[in-house]
Amino acid sequence: MSKLFSPAEIGPYKLSHRIVMAPLTRMRADPGDIPSELMVEYYTQRTSNGGLIVSEATPVSIRGYGYAGAPGIYSDAQIPGWRRVTNAVHAKGGRIFLQLWHVGRQSHVDLQPNGEAPLAPSAIAAEGHAYTKHGEAPFSMPRALELHEIPGIIEEFRAGAERALRAGFDGVEIHGANGYLPDQFLQDGTNKRTDEYGGPIENRARFLLEVTQAAISVWGADRVGVRISPSGTYGSMSDGNPPATFGYVATQLDRLGIAYLHVVEPRIKGTEEIAHGQAPIAAQHLRPKFSRTLIAAGGFAPHSAEAIVTAGDADLVAFGRHFISNPDLPERLRRGLPLNRYDRSTFYGGDARGYIDYPAAEVASPA
Ligand SMILES: Cc1cc2nc3c(=O)[nH]c(=O)nc-3n(C[C@H](O)[C@H](O)[C@H](O)COP(=O)(O)O)c2cc1C
Repeated sequence: MSKLFSPAEIGPYKLSHRIVMAPLTRMRADPGDIPSELMVEYYTQRTSNGGLIVSEATPVSIRGYGYAGAPGIYSDAQIPGWRRVTNAVHAKGGRIFLQLWHVGRQSHVDLQPNGEAPLAPSAIAAEGHAYTKHGEAPFSMPRALELHEIPGIIEEFRAGAERALRAGFDGVEIHGANGYLPDQFLQDGTNKRTDEYGGPIENRARFLLEVTQAAISVWGADRVGVRISPSGTYGSMSDGNPPATFGYVATQLDRLGIAYLHVVEPRIKGTEEIAHGQAPIAAQHLRPKFSRTLIAAGGFAPHSAEAIVTAGDADLVAFGRHFISNPDLPERLRRGLPLNRYDRSTFYGGDARGYIDYPAAEVASPA
């Protein structure tokens, strides 16, 4: 019998299967960073009864932006749009957590208020490109946050968590992965601070743990999750001792009692597979340190997803790209049906094409 299709729990919620829709930035919001009707249709299509969706990353402040067209959760004006999304997901029996986002240094002056420098733990630029309204542009040199500014950023996460509650989400996930602000504090390649937010891991983890506690203050620990990418190099990330850094993080998050830890596996660097990827060991490595639900993500195929939950190294498996092109992915996996191929050219931004026009199996291959 398939373990992937056995029931599971996440915080207070019962799930009917173990396939999660991974957070996926698609940049199809309306002006004002308001969730669009297209987004309502997209999430509705990808909802399964008893399944879990993690929303696309959603900035908690204007300074937290790096991708024009991403929907926000920094303003009350964005709540009704999200409410339409959560109502639609609930109507089909699904659950949805909002991913709270601050890109930190992975931004560009054109996206920042008054053209100011993006914010970071330390003034070190990332390699790569931000998505401005005028196209891709190299990440700008960031400015190191002053110590007295940090509580204000944590408050932005708390306020975002509160708006998510008012928008009808089932919980929130802190985006602590892929080289964004909490990850920039965690890893020593990007954090050269000498105050209580830099230096030893106890200090570098402080920002992520305080952000998590802020979300817990709104939601309770059992409806908060955290995503990390211990082996990710996307956004020029590096750390001198990832096992120690992320082992400490997993242990501390377990102490806080959060609902789940979401781990991007080592064979994925950001969003690209390594040509000769190693076995998925990150979730396995962190399993002994985290007692509640563990979600593994990154490069999974149906058989490897089944294998990791059967081995017990993860409780749930999140799929990214396959969910983009297969709105009915859980049903396809359950019935062993072939998968639609995804089109990378429509991943980031655009219109309905490559977004809500991938067919469900009933249409693609009638029984
Ligand atoms: C188009 C695209 C957008 C993504 N956006 C996010 C995001 O908003 N937040 C996040 O944590 N990861 C994001 N990711 C990473 C995915 O959640 C996932 O970890 C990655 O695609 C590997 O899983 P896969 O092999 O199943 O696609 C994105 C990936 C892709 C391809």
